[in-house]
This record gives sequence, C-alpha cells and structure tokens, in this order.
Amino acid sequence: MSVPPSAPGAQSTPASPWPPTSSADFPRIGSLPAYVFAQVNAEKAERVAAGEDVIDLGMGNPDLGTPGHIVEEMVAHARDKKHHRYSASRGIYGLREGMADHYRDRYGVQLDAETEVVVTIGAKEGVAHLMLAILGAGDAVILPSPAYPIHSYAPRFAGGSVLPVPLQGDGQGYVRGDALLDAVEAACRTAGRPPKALLLSFPNNPTTLQAPPGFFERAVEVCRRNRLLLIHDFAYADFGFGDDPPSVLQVPGAKDIAVEFFSMSKSYCMAGWRVGFCVGNPAMVGALTRIKSYLDYGIFQPIQIAAAHALRAGQECVAETRDTYRGRAAALTEGLRAAGWDVPAPRATMFIWAPIPAPFVGTPSIEFARMLLREAGVVVSPGVGFGPEGEGCVRFALIEPEERLREAGARIGRVLRRAKAAA
Ligand SMILES: Cc1ncc(COP(=O)(O)O)c(C=O)c1O
Repeated sequence: MSVPPSAPGAQSTPASPWPPTSSADFPRIGSLPAYVFAQVNAEKAERVAAGEDVIDLGMGNPDLGTPGHIVEEMVAHARDKKHHRYSASRGIYGLREGMADHYRDRYGVQLDAETEVVVTIGAKEGVAHLMLAILGAGDAVILPSPAYPIHSYAPRFAGGSVLPVPLQGDGQGYVRGDALLDAVEAACRTAGRPPKALLLSFPNNPTTLQAPPGFFERAVEVCRRNRLLLIHDFAYADFGFGDDPPSVLQVPGAKDIAVEFFSMSKSYCMAGWRVGFCVGNPAMVGALTRIKSYLDYGIFQPIQIAAAHALRAGQECVAETRDTYRGRAAALTEGLRAAGWDVPAPRATMFIWAPIPAPFVGTPSIEFARMLLREAGVVVSPGVGFGPEGEGCVRFALIEPEERLREAGARIGRVLRRAKAAA
C-alpha cells in the first residue's frame, strides 16, 4: 500500500544506498561528526602494543576501584537468584529513596522518591534519553561550550539542535556566570523560535569551572523569564577542592523547571557499574521514566542494592577520592608549571584544562595531542573533541597516581624545552 504524501511518515530522509555497505549509509549515523578521540586512541593502542610505556590521561575513567563495602554488598546479593530477573526500569524503591535521603541530608532538598527520582544507566544514558523524551523536532537546547560530548550530541539524536554559548572562567576557577547568562538571554532573543532548554554542568567537564555563589539563583530566574527548562548535569558534585559545589535544586522553586543528574561513577568510583539518577521536576522525571519503560528493564538488581548501600553507608570513601584527585591535580599542575607550562590550577573535578603552550600556540589541539603522545608518551584529550570552542586547549584526566603524573610532567617538560630550543 502506498503512503499518501500528507500522512505521517511520508517525508522520508534522502535515499540511502541499498543494500547498505557501511554504517555511514544510515542517515543518522552518516550525519555524525568524526569521533575526534579515535585517532589519538588508535595511535595509543599501537604504541602500547609495541611495548612503550604510555601514560594515559585521556579518558575520565576512574582508576581507584569501587570501595570494598560496596563491592561486598553487590557480591552478597548476586548469589541470590531472586535478583537475577528483570528489575524495575525506573529503579528499585530503596535506591530511589536512598537518593532522596541523600539530597535531604546533603543539600536540604526534599524529593519524592516516587515522582521526583528516576534511576538511570549512568548520567550519560539519562541525559540522552531525557532529550528524546522532552524535545520535539527542531527544538533547540542552549549549551555552554566547550561541553561534554553527549551534551551536544543528545539533542541532535533527539531531532533537536544546539545553540552554543561561550563558557569562560573568571581566573579564579569559577565560571563568569553573569556573562554566561547574558549570552543565554541574547540567544533566546535572537533565536528564530524560542529555545526549549538550558543544559548546564558545574563543576564542568572539560573546563573544571565551578558555579560561583548565587549563580543558580540567577540561572533559574533567567530560565523562568525565557520559559526554558533547566537541566543540570551534576556528575562532579563531590569534587570541589574548596567550597562545596551547589545543587541547582537548592534554589527555592527550582523544581518547577529544573532537573539534575547525579552519577555514582565518579563519587563512588563505580563508572563500570552504570548507575545514575535524574531528580527534580516531576514532569521531566516522569517523561524520562516513561520513555525508559519502553527501552530498558533496569539495572542488575544487586548493583542497585549496592548503590543504595553506597549512599547510606559512611561517606568517608567519597572524601578520600576527592582528596586523591586534589593531590593529583596539585602534582600535575606543579609538574607542568615546572616544565614551563603555566596551567591553571583546577578548583574542582578530576581534570586539568590547559591552553596549549608556547611554542605550540596555534597548533590544532589534535596535532598537539598526537605530538605529546609521539614525543612524550602521554595521552591527553584534544580540546576540539569538546566542540570547536575547545580548540586551543587540551584536557588531562587525573587517573594515574601522583608519581606517574610527575613523570608525565617531566616528560612533557623535556619535549617543551627541546621545542623551545629549536624554535
Ligand atoms: C559531565 C559528565 N556527565 C556525565 C558523565 C558520565 O556519567 P555516567 O558514568 O554516570 O554516565 C561524565 C563522564 O565523564 C561527565 O563528565
């Protein structure tokens, strides 16, 4: 039966080759930008295979291992066959309640575990599916950039678009909040059709910037005035090295328009376990819960039980992890500064974000990253991988012990000195 031209589904994408011979023959895949990190990763794999000692500070993949009491809880429940069945897509009640209690105790925020908390398969999956749940075709999301890659891909996957606004620091490790929110208002004024949402993430990956006091109050106000939903990815909630990073939900009335994502990956070194949460505005939480109910059956139940245990048990392990990253940040900052590379000390996160130094200023970040791998045996993430606004910088992930970071600093120092002498 032929489809009448006006029927839904009648507008087709441009003809694709048939039969497909490459994944790029499918329109959504073909339109994806090149994966910038792939080239450095491939070169790293070659060098490791050749037996070279490569110090990999590329991906923000925690190395510290999940604390023993969390692992034990998972193992104990993994033995019980009643936990081997499908679980609840939105997460078991005990875990949702654990998250609600965590927000009450930590931030003084009241959450209803039934309607204002949903468990996600990590914050990344949660952000991606929230976009699918809330965006209509052509809806724009305002995104401070550079940005964590899924923040710019997820709206596009969902048929929407991204309006980047510049993310700048104040030189003290805080975002220049007023400039950022002025840019958000300007984007709302000039957009052809009103944007739908503002997607923030502080402490920020890759820039390490933190939200200054009062920032979220003004962000909520700006979003209300411009009828924007506010989505806050709070993956580095526990990694402030001075003042504690604030939650957007601490702003009175924020729940009317905002949700926040929390992740177990970084705070509890549970990156491989895949547990995160979306909390706050019940309409958005409900939309995500609904779409997830079509897509997944929930996380392996022993993992959910162990995650609930992590939230309820003593939090010393979180403080230890934060202190480890703080020590590593100091070690690498010191090492790079001694090498003649004056990197800014991060106020938060598990990264250092550094402008490319002399004599390489102006070198594309991907070429600079390849050079560091070739000449120093150190892997970093090229800034352009976080969007064009990240060009001119590289990111170091603090996922090696302090002595290895010092070694990385020393190796880079030798390369910079040689290059300066030759320049
Ligand atoms: C800002 C941000 N959000 C989310 C994630 C991923 O979190 P999860 O492991 O919970 O999916 C990361 C990981 O690097 C991140 O930097």
